[in-house]
Amino acid sequence: MTGGRWREALEQRARDVLPAPVLEYVLQGARESVTTAESTRTWASARFRPYVLRDVTEPDLSVTVLGHRLEVPWGVAPTTLQRAVHPEGEVAMARATAAAGSMMVVSSNAGTPFTAIAESGVHWWLQAYLPADRTLAEPMLARAVEAGARAVVLTVDTPVVGTKYSAGPSVWETVDPGIVRVNLDEDYDRLPGAEKALDLGPHDIGWLAEITGLPVVVKGVLRGDDARRCVQAGAAAVWVSNHGGRQLDRAAPTAACLPDVVAAVGEDAEVYVDGGVRSGLDLLAALALGADAVFLGRLPLLALVDGADGVAALHATLREETREALRLAGCRTVVDTHGIVLADRGNHL
Ligand SMILES: Cc1cc2nc3c(=O)[nH]c(=O)nc-3n(C[C@H](O)[C@H](O)[C@H](O)COP(=O)(O)O)c2cc1C
Repeated sequence: MTGGRWREALEQRARDVLPAPVLEYVLQGARESVTTAESTRTWASARFRPYVLRDVTEPDLSVTVLGHRLEVPWGVAPTTLQRAVHPEGEVAMARATAAAGSMMVVSSNAGTPFTAIAESGVHWWLQAYLPADRTLAEPMLARAVEAGARAVVLTVDTPVVGTKYSAGPSVWETVDPGIVRVNLDEDYDRLPGAEKALDLGPHDIGWLAEITGLPVVVKGVLRGDDARRCVQAGAAAVWVSNHGGRQLDRAAPTAACLPDVVAAVGEDAEVYVDGGVRSGLDLLAALALGADAVFLGRLPLLALVDGADGVAALHATLREETREALRLAGCRTVVDTHGIVLADRGNHL
């Protein structure tokens, strides 16, 4: 996966290999996909003022998230239906991600048992959607804790699933239901109260921390004031995300929201970001704007078309691009990048 056109090649390979409904599911955004398209473009609006005359012989790409050191400043965001993309699904994703010194957030809709993912040795967190009746989530949370999840990521941008349009039959009409939600109780969807909670509040953060004994990360925050409420309620980290544009269409691009959230809580909690990150230069922009780590959704999912080898190649390519970006920016570490985005360009990101 070398050369400047690797992203196009990755997408083309997915177009060649994946059944149309699966490809559509991976790429789609909500409604008119305004946010999905804009999120990718906006990272490229950042303009850097690189340092010079600094020793960049050995750039250090590592970051520490909730006390755990990653060799690279990105992790794999939670995505449903990995086994529709490749039969080895989450296990292949986990193996390649562990080998790259990265980490993985496992969707509560995952199609692979938590224990099988954990066996890869990957550092992983659980992503949770909470149901109207919170107690229905308890068995799944217990399974994740038992299997070694190191944090819980509460997704808060999905009170309802944002409408998406399908050109043909949707993925849910075509995919084997056995490759999704295997960590939830078998009859889960039929239970009264299993629908997504419409009444999530800051108290759910404390409840999750208490019931799991794990740090809680809140995913789907775009505002500094909301970030502050999360941290006041006990969140260990806030994750700036618009769900890859799959929830509220016309939600602002995360690159534009990140500085406000970092200013509001960056001293007190870790701040992560995802949405449209597609290159080492995008990663540099996110880190320079103050993200403690960056998460990738569609890129690793597209790479998974070729199983663990595909994901390994993606990690290797991004490592090379990020290394080059740090060197050219005159930065030896991730922290050195802070503030290299030209301020007035930053303002109209
Ligand atoms: C196919 C797909 C499935 C997703 N499933 C989940 C999920 O189960 N839980 C969740 O919190 N986010 C989910 N997301 C959102 C991602 O975690 C992430 O926020 C988003 O993909 C980041 O944008 P990017 O794809 O442009 O990198 C999903 C995204 C995609 C593309």
